[in-house]
Amino acid sequence: MQIPVPDTPGIALCNSTDLLDSGLAVPFDVIYCGQTCYAFAIRYAGKAYAYLNRCSHVPMEMDYQPNRFFDLTGHWLICATHGAMYSPQTGMCRTGPCRGGLVSIALTESDGVVHWHTSPHLQSVVF
Ligand code: FES
Repeated sequence: MQIPVPDTPGIALCNSTDLLDSGLAVPFDVIYCGQTCYAFAIRYAGKAYAYLNRCSHVPMEMDYQPNRFFDLTGHWLICATHGAMYSPQTGMCRTGPCRGGLVSIALTESDGVVHWHTSPHLQSVVF
């Protein structure tokens, strides 16, 4: 489910040109509910989206090759393990053994840069 962009400063993630429609994702790390997790950003139909890299069926990473989440049609995000398919626009399950949707991460784009935004359950990793 898409969440509204919170009123928090964005964290620079990548250049807008790094995200091609239905192309490879840009990975990044987040702290979700106190745990370090992988996340990914993709572009679909011109707009950038980001989700935790965690299937709703079994909480494991979904990419079948590094940073490759789209199925062959380029219209759905697919989990490599059991084939759950999610909408790239909402993260909601379309088919397969999903149990709900993906955890959405708010993104904004400005001046050719994509930023992600923290939330109460989602924080940046401090190195
Ligand atoms: S772990 Fe993703 S579909 Fe089963």
